[in-house]
Amino acid sequence: MTGANDRAAVRGRVLSVASECVGLIKTGGLADVVGALPAALAAQGWDMRVLLPAYRGLAAHLKDTREVWAETDLYGGPARVLAGRAAGLRVLLLDAPHLFDREGGPYSAHGADFPDNPERFAALSWVAAAIAREGTDDDWRPDILHAHDWQAGLAPAYLRYQGVSDVRSVLTIHNIAFQGIAASYKLSALRLPHSEFHSGGFEYWGNISSLKAGLVTADRITTVSPTYADELMRPEFGMGLEGVIASRASDLEGLLNGVDEAVWDPANDPEIATYSARRPKGKAQNRAALLEEFGLGEVPGPLAILVSRLTGQKGIDLVLAALPDFVAAGGALAVLGSGEPALEAALRDAEVRFPGRVAVRIGYDEGLSHRMFGGGDAVLVPSRFEPCGLTQMYGLRYGTIPVVAATGGLNDTVIGATPASLAAGAATGIVFHPIDNLGLSQALRHLVQLHADEKEWARMRTRAMKTDVGWSSRSAAYAALYESLLS
Ligand code: ADP
Ligand code: GLC
Repeated sequence: MTGANDRAAVRGRVLSVASECVGLIKTGGLADVVGALPAALAAQGWDMRVLLPAYRGLAAHLKDTREVWAETDLYGGPARVLAGRAAGLRVLLLDAPHLFDREGGPYSAHGADFPDNPERFAALSWVAAAIAREGTDDDWRPDILHAHDWQAGLAPAYLRYQGVSDVRSVLTIHNIAFQGIAASYKLSALRLPHSEFHSGGFEYWGNISSLKAGLVTADRITTVSPTYADELMRPEFGMGLEGVIASRASDLEGLLNGVDEAVWDPANDPEIATYSARRPKGKAQNRAALLEEFGLGEVPGPLAILVSRLTGQKGIDLVLAALPDFVAAGGALAVLGSGEPALEAALRDAEVRFPGRVAVRIGYDEGLSHRMFGGGDAVLVPSRFEPCGLTQMYGLRYGTIPVVAATGGLNDTVIGATPASLAAGAATGIVFHPIDNLGLSQALRHLVQLHADEKEWARMRTRAMKTDVGWSSRSAAYAALYESLLS
């Protein structure tokens, strides 16, 4: 089979390194981006490969598999890299059973993080750097190493410390709240040089920070929205790394995420009655089906949905506080999520308190999430911080009006309804600030009013659905970044 990757005139070879990739392993938006961005770039002539850990069972998904790299002792055991195709991508899987063949998720089992996470992802980063330095056994060597989040943060660092100067590196921050901190006694075990254990290197309050190692060594740094790029330099958002980020401001860019237009397409979604901006009829059918699936009764006002990890970041407590007024005003809420036990319990309580108006599904369910976007009137994303956020963009695609906090990528992707933006025919959602209880309850009041104005609501929904949020256009910014590194 000949694909874009096989053509002679490739624009450049890129090794993308990450801990998740949609279609293989996913806990959040990182996986969506790691899967969709290389696919979009490959279609434009870039030779993209994605290096991931071979978590339990993953190697079985690989097609045309062959071994392209091996080491007898990789952080305590034998390891090899398997190349093949999976999830529509060229994938390299790091098969190191002592690190990755275990029960549980990618980072934890039974609610507890694996104690050797620093070693596990240092090993991933080490192999990425080794492939960048020497190439694979089948002679593939990248021009650019693209590391995602702390799990790949050590990859640019190993490259730098090993004096590899003919491969450029990019580090993308998807969420600075996770930094990959390890105790300093692990220095040698992580194959890191003692000479770089200082405040200008990877030392962070006496510990090792994998993310910081990447931040101080990568040629370029990106994050997933322009607003988050600015926020990262502030103490409220930088999580202690704001100074490091500010010192690299000239090498930092905020490049907005996109969504996979093929997967998130209301006109071609097997989970729903299909519809489009021009033929929106199916939406009402999906709404009725969703009310029934969640056991909700007649809802005179807007049916809001929430599809989210249930953590402090996501502002779930704000939703709980705003619920009584929202329900009294005729609204209803359907929730799909999992996460912190206290938030799960509070949501279940709300379900009991507001029967027929609030319904909660605890768990992770891709199909149900599609049906929720298909049938919801509005999607709530009241995050306290949000590097980019994807669900507000699914909301735009599906005409499920996003109600978002004015932070990070939420601020950059939704045009909030104001008298001016409505008069100009520009509004695509509701954006609120400050991010507190009053802010969200005012936003929900506004939602109820807008929803009641049928004509205005229909216009806003059409505009939302016509907003271009796809990777086909947004990946161009990454192509430009890669080009600038290669010129
Ligand atoms: P984050 O990565 O911080 O969790 P994003 O908005 O970037 O936030 O991405 C979250 C992704 O995970 C989206 O694709 C969303 O639809 C999905 N998701 C989150 N929770 C669930 C769930 N319980 N079931 C199905 N999909 C979920
Ligand atoms: C992180 C962020 C989220 C972002 C995703 C993909 O998980 O929390 O805002 O959309 O990465 O970049």
